Amino acid sequence: MADDLQALLEAADGVMRRAHAPYSNFKVGAALRGADGTIHVGANVENASYSQAQCAEASAIGAMIAAGETRITAIAVVAERVERCPPCGGCRQRLSEFADPQTPVYLGRPGSEPLVTTLGELLPLSFGSDELNR
Ligand code: THU
Repeated sequence: MADDLQALLEAADGVMRRAHAPYSNFKVGAALRGADGTIHVGANVENASYSQAQCAEASAIGAMIAAGETRITAIAVVAERVERCPPCGGCRQRLSEFADPQTPVYLGRPGSEPLVTTLGELLPLSFGSDELNR
């Protein structure tokens, strides 16, 4: 497995362990590689008011934006309780704001071959800023 893919999965796995998920007990970590090569990570953050939970992908996007990056070149998602954790529909849309349809998405765990897909496969015919500007 390529070192950079392994690094992305390890970053997602590391942050997953720090998730705040006492209500679902379903910890998720996301790692985004920015255009400059830097990895930005986030975990899910739940709340006693359940509907206020934030997904790992949304947390990672927040960290990326805070770091000054606006383009995603690769995405990894790791979850504690499942081998592969597909991003929820809302997060597919959130990720599409900053990534291309060709952007690779890796779903798995460090040390084993992940399922490899693309954001375009996960979110075909997506709505984006192009539609607003027509
Ligand atoms: N979750 C994520 O963090 N990302 C996803 O794409 C799917 C779901 C979180 C939200 C919630 O804290 C827990 O998983 C159970 O739904």
